[in-house]
Parts: sequence; structure tokens; C-alpha cells
Amino acid sequence: MLFGASNFTVLLVLIASCFAKKTTQESFTSKETLEQTFEQGTNSELLWAPYRSNCYFGIRPRFVDGTPFIFGLMWFDTTKFDSMTRLRHFVSDEDHLERFTWEAYDPRLGGRENIIDPENNLNLTIHFAKTHDDQNWIVRVNGKPLDPTLNTTTSVILYMNQNIGKDPEGPSRLMHINNGNTQDENTFEFTGISEDLGKYEVLINDNYGNYYTNDTLDSIEVVPGCNASRSSHVGLTIPDTEVWRARDIFQSLLTDSIKDIVKELGETIDSGLVPSVLTLRNLHEFDQGNFHYIQKTFDMREEKGFEFDVVYNNMDSTQTIDSGKQATKLINDAIYEINVRFDNHFDIEDTENTGDKRKFAMEVLGNLLGGIGYFHGTQVIDRETVLDEDQFESIKFEHFKEEGPYSLFTSVPSRGFFPRGFYWDEGFHLLQIMEYDFDLAFQIAVSWFNLIDENGWVAREVILGPEARSKVPQEFTIQSPQIANPPTLLLALSEMLTKLIENENELGFSHSVVDAEQEEGISSQLGSNFEYIIKYSKIIYPRLQSHFKWFTETQKGLIEEYLEDMEDDEQFQEVHQNFVYRWLGRTVTHCLPSGLDDYPRAEIPDVAELNVDALAWVGTMARSMKNIAHILGLEKDELQYAETERKIVENLDLLHWDSKTGTYCDVTLDAEGDDEMQRVCHEGYVSLLPFALKLMPRNSPKLKNLLTLMSDPEKLFSPFGLRSLSKQDEHFGAGENYWRGKIWMNINYLCLDAIQYYFPEVIAGSPETSELHDKEVSNMAKKLYNTLRENLINNVYGNWKETNYVYENYDPVDGHGTGSVQFTGWTSLIVNILRHQGL
Ligand SMILES: *[C@@H]1O[C@H](CO)[C@@H](O)[C@H](O)[C@H]1NC(C)=O
Ligand SMILES: *[C@@H]1O[C@H](CO)[C@@H](O)[C@H](O)[C@H]1NC(C)=O
Ligand SMILES: *[C@@H]1O[C@H](CO)[C@@H](O)[C@H](O)[C@H]1NC(C)=O
Ligand SMILES: *[C@@H]1O[C@H](CO)[C@@H](O)[C@H](O)[C@H]1NC(C)=O
Repeated sequence: MLFGASNFTVLLVLIASCFAKKTTQESFTSKETLEQTFEQGTNSELLWAPYRSNCYFGIRPRFVDGTPFIFGLMWFDTTKFDSMTRLRHFVSDEDHLERFTWEAYDPRLGGRENIIDPENNLNLTIHFAKTHDDQNWIVRVNGKPLDPTLNTTTSVILYMNQNIGKDPEGPSRLMHINNGNTQDENTFEFTGISEDLGKYEVLINDNYGNYYTNDTLDSIEVVPGCNASRSSHVGLTIPDTEVWRARDIFQSLLTDSIKDIVKELGETIDSGLVPSVLTLRNLHEFDQGNFHYIQKTFDMREEKGFEFDVVYNNMDSTQTIDSGKQATKLINDAIYEINVRFDNHFDIEDTENTGDKRKFAMEVLGNLLGGIGYFHGTQVIDRETVLDEDQFESIKFEHFKEEGPYSLFTSVPSRGFFPRGFYWDEGFHLLQIMEYDFDLAFQIAVSWFNLIDENGWVAREVILGPEARSKVPQEFTIQSPQIANPPTLLLALSEMLTKLIENENELGFSHSVVDAEQEEGISSQLGSNFEYIIKYSKIIYPRLQSHFKWFTETQKGLIEEYLEDMEDDEQFQEVHQNFVYRWLGRTVTHCLPSGLDDYPRAEIPDVAELNVDALAWVGTMARSMKNIAHILGLEKDELQYAETERKIVENLDLLHWDSKTGTYCDVTLDAEGDDEMQRVCHEGYVSLLPFALKLMPRNSPKLKNLLTLMSDPEKLFSPFGLRSLSKQDEHFGAGENYWRGKIWMNINYLCLDAIQYYFPEVIAGSPETSELHDKEVSNMAKKLYNTLRENLINNVYGNWKETNYVYENYDPVDGHGTGSVQFTGWTSLIVNILRHQGL
């Protein structure tokens, strides 16, 4: 294999190919209305950001679907023959980066991302900052060798495209301006126009750094155009839908160029010329189009490395960035402001006095926010396949169609492995984000609710367009409207509205939820202005109603199956029969809809199975609907949802409480016996959910049972957090071992929060004991709260100290991070936990 250039699909065919087909299906109310309302109602601070979550660094604007400007960054060390295998672009665990992290980030301001790439001998720092009108931005790219004695290069490839949109005759263009001979060959100026964004310029300027040279060689230029001592530029045309494949296209163009060089010069090329061989040239004599590659190859034999700026200026803005000095100030101001904002929201105490926990928390939050993306494109949906409820074998969705295009503004569980919207994760992300930026969290929630279709359904994974789909095995891209997922977004909404309602009661409507924002001059109009909340709530309310209806109708349990057997059971007679639920779509081994995949359920699946967690989640939905009806002053609806909530709370105890084990359990029909009702108890997260979601009455005597379960080191309590499944369960650590003991932050967070809710005395400064619980229970809660909180912090922080990363979950035996790396989705809830002070 020459130069490590394996068999790349030749993408030139693709480049020439036409735009992908789109099937259009209008969403049931106008998307424009909602987004326009936003743009008028809220600040415009969120137009530009690195919204391409899956790239190490990639920019696109939000809400601009027709003719966005797209920007991305790639890099590699070009001194080796097999360098191409180490070309970086999309975040991947396989790149073996020692670190990649937003050290500070706020989508309203900008931030600093640091990447340590040992295989490319590179310490890369990228700053991003915006002007106050959010129209202009700067990217400052700074690279240093990790070890200058290794004599490597860093070849950075920038690419950008002005999308054409639907009308090829439209005005949208991006052109290189050639200022003649006077211009420095490493400085670039582009002028662009976008139908949506207006007129703009893009300027690329070096601040310092040496380009590749080699004194032992007479000439660095290996063939005309391949000269690593100077920047190279190739402009061409790529269909809008293929721009995301910039890396593949670069590789295939470069491979063509290399083949051509080998044909001309033979295979024995001086190793000092390799950096030039790996420099892109315009071999195919493309006419300059809207897509541009700029490649800069820096010599990394000096400690100080290189630095260059990319500036985007909207020509209609009065705040254009016109000097490097101004850019520096913009960057410094942004970093300063992010620090102030962070401290205003999270006063992180550092017990060891090293300052490190604050740094850790800032990074973790920065990465959650840095994962926020804007996605647009079609979604693959199967509305025909019927679930198999006889054999419960895994489901094949074969009758799928592309629908849309749709848009989604969301954060992601992890940029490397899960760079797309997840319904189950997002609510947890918002519980963290809302503590920092209430408006942002609310906008993300609304964007999700905007996807609820006319049947009330929203997909569990939202995978929009080919770029997002490229990260997902094909069978998993297909979404089915029969499959639900825990409605965590309604949990987040419920928490947001509860906060607002408390605020309303304490301060009256006009006061701010987030007072600190005002002082910083960053508007938080939603948090501070109840009118906006009401306006958006009005828009989303009908959708939420249909979502609630869809959820409760599709996941409704078959209580009829039990009626005959239970005729004489007094407790069973009290069950509210219309308020029992199950997860539709489980298989023998998995219950994907529950979000807890391989958590043990009834051994033999049965259509009559009733799931305690499904019921608890509906309780959360009902509570959320109650709150939103309250805010909208819909008294009748509020009462009705309150009534539903009450019935669900009662059903949890009447139907799912197992007095033998003292926990909440699933219910099913005993298939091997005589079809009698049977409780299926596997102690773990499922048994905790009614507690975790605050659905038990505040004075419930059962609280003690759950505290005991959580505090038992032989069951759920570990030095690293609560195990998902009891150590004593027969399935602990077995099989796929995903939700069978591993420690997950999302449920641990809910449990801590619930302890605080039921036992306010666990917080420093609260009265010694509450009247609701006796001293023994109260002390138990205090001890659990403090040890659990400490264990979670120490373990996630300890893993970060050691490896620079946070993880998807943590091992229940030794606490090491497992699963996907830099999983700064719900694991970021550690930031809220750090803030909450125990005794
Ligand atoms: C990377 O560079 C930054 C400054 O540019 C420095 O603070 C940091 O320590 C460097 N990291 C490593 C691992 O060399
Ligand atoms: C780097 O270059 C210097 C000077 O040319 C040489 O002495 C040294 O051995 C080289 N280092 C490596 C790792 O090749
Ligand atoms: C390669 O680029 C360097 C830097 O611009 C220049 O000095 C040199 O003349 C170029 N080589 C050729 C053969 O053009
Ligand atoms: C310069 O080229 C020679 C081969 O001609 C090579 O051995 C040496 O490593 C190169 N130096 C650098 C710094 O790349």
C-alpha cells in the first residue's frame, strides 16, 4: 500500500453526482413560525458556533438551512509515508488522542479547545470568539510540537463551502480574491454571498510559524504545485449534500495526485519530499467553485510552533473584525466572560485547594455545551412494520422511507460515538444546561418538541441527513413510531417550569430566574420574562398534549389479563385500571424502549407485562403537563393532569410495590404456572425510579426501604456510585453487561436530587430534622447523601485526572471509566452535583 492510501472510494464520481433526492413531507405546523418567534423573541446570540458536533472543529450557522456557510478543520503530520491514516477530522476514539476538550466554552461567547494528538506530535489549541452582534467570528489555530526533536510537520487543511441551496442560479457564491503579486502567498481573502446570510468575507492570516523546509534538498517542490513550503489552495465544486465528506474527498484527490507523482518519478521518492507529496494540488484543473481547501504545512522543529487566524465578517455588520489585535481582545474577553459566568452559576468548592475541581467542572460543562449542534436533513422512518409480540424476537424494520427535511438544535451524548440527538439523554443534558443558561435549555427543549409529529410521536434517536447517518450502522438509523423512550425532556421541562413557578410565587412574574445574567449584560429573556415562556408554552402545549396522548395510548398496559384472577384481591381492586403501562417493543433479551437495554425483566416476555418504570415516567409526564397547564392558566387541564398524576402515584404502590422484597417491581403473568399475577423483582435502577422521579408521597414509609436498598454495599451502594443492578442479582455483571451493575450518572443524579427533595435536612444550613421522618431515617438519608455525593465526585474526577476523559459509565468493581470516551452528555451532571453542598 503506497503512502497508506488504501482503497478510497473514488469520490470524484460523487462530486459530479447530483443532489440527493429529498422527499418532502410538511411537518404539521409551520416550523418557520416557531423559529421566527424565537429569533424575534430571544437574543440572536446563537447564530454561529461550532455546531458540527461530530467534527473536532466544524462551524455552521443555526437555522440557516438553505444556503449555510460551512467550515471545517483537519490536520496530520506529513513526514511519514503512511501519514494519511492519521488525518484527523471527525472525532473518533480510534485517533488515540490523549486529550480533546473545550477548556472553556459557551455557545454565546466562544471558547478554547485543546487537543493533544501524540501520533501527530501535536498540541493544538483552537480559539473561537464572536462579535456581540453574533455576525462575525474568529478562529485562531495554534499548534505546538509535543516533542520538537521528532522533526515532524503539522499540515492543517481548512475547508469551507458556500452552499448553493435549491436554486443553482441563485446568488450564493464563495470566491477567492487574487490580489496580484503583492499578496503574501500564505494570506487568503475570500468573498462570499449567501442568500440567507448576506455578503461576507473570509480572511486567513498567519501570525507566526515556519513552513516546512529541508536544507539537504535543493527544491521542496516535488512536482509543479506540490510545494509544502507554501500554502496551497484548491477551489472546486461539491454538491451541498456532500460537503460533509471533505475528508474523503481530500483523500481521494490526494491519492490521485500521489499516483500521478509515482507515475512520473517512480516509487523511490526522497523522504524529505514526503510533505510536498502530501500537499494537495489542482491536478484535475477544476474550475474554482464554492468549495475551497487551504493546506498549510508547518515545520514543527521549533517549540513555538505556528498560529494563524481565520476571520469571518458579515459585510453588513458594524462590528467587523479588522485586525489581529482586535481578534485577540475578542478572544480574551470571551474567555474572561466565560469564567465569570461559570463562577456566577457554580461556585465550586475545592476541598483539596488545588483549583483542579473547578477546572474539571468547567471542562465538563464546556464539553456538554461544545457538543451542542444544529442538524438538518431527512430522517429514516418505518411506519409499517408491526412489532412481533408472539416470539419477541429482535425487530427488523424493512419498510422505511426518508421523511423531512427536519431540523434539530440539541446537545449530544458524546461527540465521538453519539453525535446526534437522543431523546432519552437530552432531558438529562437539559437538567445540567438549565442551571447555567435557562434560555438555551428552553430553546433546545422547544426544538425537540417541534419534532413531535401529527401522531404525537418523536423518534428516540434523531439522525438527520447523511452526515449524521454516517456514524450509525444502517439498521439502527431506522426509527419506528411504535417505540417510545423515557420522556426525559418532560422531566427537564417539569423542572424548568417548577423553577419558574417557585419564582413566580416568591417574586412575582416579572422577576428574573437567573439574576446573575443581568449583571453580566447577557440577556436571559426567557428566564426573566414570563411573557416569552407563555408565548412558547402556548405554541408547544398542543404538541405536548398529543405527545402525552401518543405515549399513554401506545404504551398502555393490558390490565384485563389480570382481572379474573384478581377478583378477590382487595388491594388490586383499588388499582386505577386505565393507568398502567408497559414498554412496547421489548425482545427476549432487551428492552431498548426503557433506555435500560439489557436490564433484567421478566424472563419470558408477555404482552401483559406491566413495567414500573414506564408507569413512573408517565407520572413525570403528567406532572409536567400539569405545570405547563398551570403556567398557561388552563385550570381544567391542570386539574385533569393533577388527577392523572395522583392515580399514577397510587398505582405505583397498589400494583408495583412488592412487600416481600420491599421494592417496586415489574408485574407479569406467570407463564409457567397458571397465569397468575407475579412480581418480577430485580433490585436496581428500575426499582428506584418511583423514588428517583419524586413520585412517592413525601411521608411514605416506603422511603426507608429504598434508602436501605441504596445504602447496602452488598446491593446498590459502591464506593463509586449506585450500581445499576444489585450485586446480589443473578444477572449482575452478566452477558452484555451494559445496565447490569455499571454505574451511570443519570440515575445517580436523580437519586441525589430526590434525597434532597424528600430530606431537605441533608443540605447544610437546613433544620436538623424534618417532621416527616423519624431520626433514624433522617440520619440514614444524610449519610447516604453525603457518601454517595462524595463517591461520585471522587470517582469521575479521579478518572478524569488520570485519563483526561469522562466516560459513559463506570465499573462497579473498581470504578474505572468504561463505554464511550469523553461522554460529556449526562455524565456532565457531575457539575450540578459538585455545586450542591452536603453537610
Ligand atoms: C499545550 O499548549 C498549551 C499552551 O499553548 C500549554 O498550556 C499546555 O501545557 C500544552 N500541553 C501539553 C501536553 O504540552
Ligand atoms: C531531527 O533532526 C536533527 C537535525 O537534523 C537530527 O540530529 C535528529 O536526529 C533528528 N531527530 C529524529 C528523531 O529524527
Ligand atoms: C516553494 O515555495 C517556497 C516558498 O514560497 C519558494 O521559496 C520556492 O521557490 C518554491 N519552490 C518552487 C520550485 O517554486
Ligand atoms: C530532510 O530530508 C532528508 C532526506 O533528504 C531527511 O533524511 C531528513 O529527515 C529531512 N529533514 C527534516 C527535518 O524533515
